[in-house]
Amino acid sequence: MMRLVLLGPPGVGKGTQAERIAQGYGIPHVSTGDMFREAVKRGTELGRTAQEYMRSGRLVPDEVTIGLVRERLSADDCRNGFVLDGFPRNLVQARAFDEVLAQIGSRLDAVISIDASVETLVARLTGRRTCRRCGTPYHVIFNPPPDPNTCPACGGELYQRDDDKEETVRKRLEVYEAETSPLVDYYRAQGLLQVINGEQDIDKVYEDIRRALEEATAHDRA
Ligand code: AP5
Repeated sequence: MMRLVLLGPPGVGKGTQAERIAQGYGIPHVSTGDMFREAVKRGTELGRTAQEYMRSGRLVPDEVTIGLVRERLSADDCRNGFVLDGFPRNLVQARAFDEVLAQIGSRLDAVISIDASVETLVARLTGRRTCRRCGTPYHVIFNPPPDPNTCPACGGELYQRDDDKEETVRKRLEVYEAETSPLVDYYRAQGLLQVINGEQDIDKVYEDIRRALEEATAHDRA
């Protein structure tokens, strides 16, 4: 059982690490960004609403996002835990999430905050390629797939996300600073925060996360 939130700016490696955690701990990776991109791909009403905000790097309205997460976390596969990536993203979402957890008689084990410099984030986002089918992120330099156009995990087509253009990236970083970064203090005050250095290579970041999770859960058991 492991209930986790991954916090951190765009491009820091939340999706990359969430996939590893999901496999390592046998829990679902719940990404609001992936859920919105899936809705856009299907052309649903949710997708049409979300697309407008995502394209310009702004947050999708809270009521839409909170409802989506509430529904997703009540699914059977989340009974033994989850790794949340991209939610909560501001204080309104964080407080609503606390209420959802209280309603289902649950609580978080840890909040992992991954850090990196703005230069690193811009380099990672502008070189990212994402699988259209399964959402797995790669990087043209830091994590290159054997075939630059094909996902080695599922055979899907790799593409550059609409919001990974430099101008939108800058906007997303601003939104992170203004709206999401206050959550670091929010979760520190709850005694849940573990800070990880995201400047290291992918394996080393994962190793530090595993160690932090061991500490967090050992503390719980004591
Ligand atoms: P979302 O999809 O959540 O995007 P994000 O938070 O901006 O994060 P990213 O997916 O861009 O980056 P990441 O940290 O997952 O990095 P990754 O592992 O891919 O949100 C998109 C949009 O949806 C938002 O702007 C908003 O509009 C909307 N939205 C989503 N959630 C919302 C919410 N709760 N409320 C309202 N709106 C919401 O890695 C990046 C690149 O770096 C990859 O190429 C990867 O291969 C590479 N990389 C990763 N780790 C390393 C490493 N250690 N070393 C070298 N390269 C690395």
